[in-house]
Amino acid sequence: MSQAATTPASTPIIRHVVTAPHLVHGCGSLDRLLDYLPLLNRPVRRIALITQPSMDRLGVTERLVTMLQGDDIQTTVVRGVMPEPTIDNIETVFLEQIAPTQPDAILAVGGGSVLDAAKLFAVRLTNGEQTDATATTPLRDWLGVDKIALPGVPLIAVPTTSGTGSEVTPNAIVTLPDESLKVGIVSRHLMPYLVLLDATLTVSVPKPITAATGMDAFVHALESYISTKANPVSDMYAMASMRLIGANLVQAYENGSDLAAREAMLLGSTYGGMALTAAGTAAVHALAYPLGGMFDVTHGVANAMLLPHVMAFNLDAIEPRLAEVARALNLAATSDSDAKAATNLMQQIVSWTAALAIPQDLTAFGVRDEHVDALAAAASKVTRLLGNNPKTLTLDDMRAIYRRLLP
Ligand SMILES: NC(=O)c1ccc[n+]([C@@H]2O[C@H](COP(=O)([O-])OP(=O)(O)OC[C@H]3O[C@@H](n4cnc5c(N)ncnc54)[C@H](O)[C@@H]3O)[C@@H](O)[C@H]2O)c1
Ligand SMILES: [Fe+2]
Repeated sequence: MSQAATTPASTPIIRHVVTAPHLVHGCGSLDRLLDYLPLLNRPVRRIALITQPSMDRLGVTERLVTMLQGDDIQTTVVRGVMPEPTIDNIETVFLEQIAPTQPDAILAVGGGSVLDAAKLFAVRLTNGEQTDATATTPLRDWLGVDKIALPGVPLIAVPTTSGTGSEVTPNAIVTLPDESLKVGIVSRHLMPYLVLLDATLTVSVPKPITAATGMDAFVHALESYISTKANPVSDMYAMASMRLIGANLVQAYENGSDLAAREAMLLGSTYGGMALTAAGTAAVHALAYPLGGMFDVTHGVANAMLLPHVMAFNLDAIEPRLAEVARALNLAATSDSDAKAATNLMQQIVSWTAALAIPQDLTAFGVRDEHVDALAAAASKVTRLLGNNPKTLTLDDMRAIYRRLLP
């Protein structure tokens, strides 16, 4: 047997699913949507346009309907996906507004909430009972990894926040209010087919949402970089993401109409999504989910609040990796020790949270010390992400991290 054919022991075999098949990047790309529809390789006669009120206010919804109807594509505008949607909200919108028209493609123009719901609409059209409101929704059966049987109709994803990277991930995050939890549905069938990155849509994002979503994107990249599943492909996207976000986050926050900064942030968040698809996020996200499920702390805010404290906990296990990030972001010289470089990165993260007015006090959200046990217990169930963290967290470790945010 030839020795040359064997794989070196140091190279683990990894299946990479990093991004959507077609990615179009550029300001104004949404206005050229008709040029890209042939990429779907099938006739499109009925589209469901899933969107949110801010796109109505900007006139984007009307412009799209006029463009699509002008091309003889029957277009149904679907509103009513709530921010950080519950599983019941997604099923209700599906049964009332989407199943009756049986679209042959879905166009989602919105933040992560709209994109995640749209992913589930696309597969819901090809899986499960379509019309009977009393039938059990399959959505609950899909919680977890690889539970969806059939591919959906093609999904065109157009993000309007620079944060989740949902346009290039196989994930949809849903809220389960009965259990006060946020849970992921993960399936290769959720990956969008065509993505348009048009930064002009993000200029209207209000300051607090620019801050929270921008930090969420940075967390995706940083957690992917220090994930136990980090690999050469995820590292490449994570580093590119952190460079773009590090150089543009504060500028996009302070001057939202700076299109160059907005464009860099949008690309940075998409790269962050690619990194997390290839490596996975870790304890910051695991601890953030219960804050969303139990106290309605929005996803980006929860992540941004937790980031400095989880990284401080991880520090001794990841110092060289944090040092690499610090040097790439010009926060340390090559001659600086890893310890100094890693400390500089930690300080930069803390000064971002101050510059972006990220709250550092959970009491404002109704969290009290007596809730810490329940938060830690809920976070400990997010094993899918905790398993990616470079250090194991005990319940006591998690309690201590939440308490850092209860001054
Ligand atoms: N699928 C994934 O891989 C993934 C990753 C991270 C987070 N998520 C999920 O995504 C959701 C959060 O998404 P998000 O952070 O993008 O926020 P979001 O979609 O909830 O939007 C936040 C608010 O901003 C508004 N908004 C969005 N774009 C706007 C614009 N251009 N102008 C003005 N207002 C605008 C929305 O209408 C909403 O009120 C959460 O449910 C989170 O769990 C998913
Ligand atoms: Fe996130």
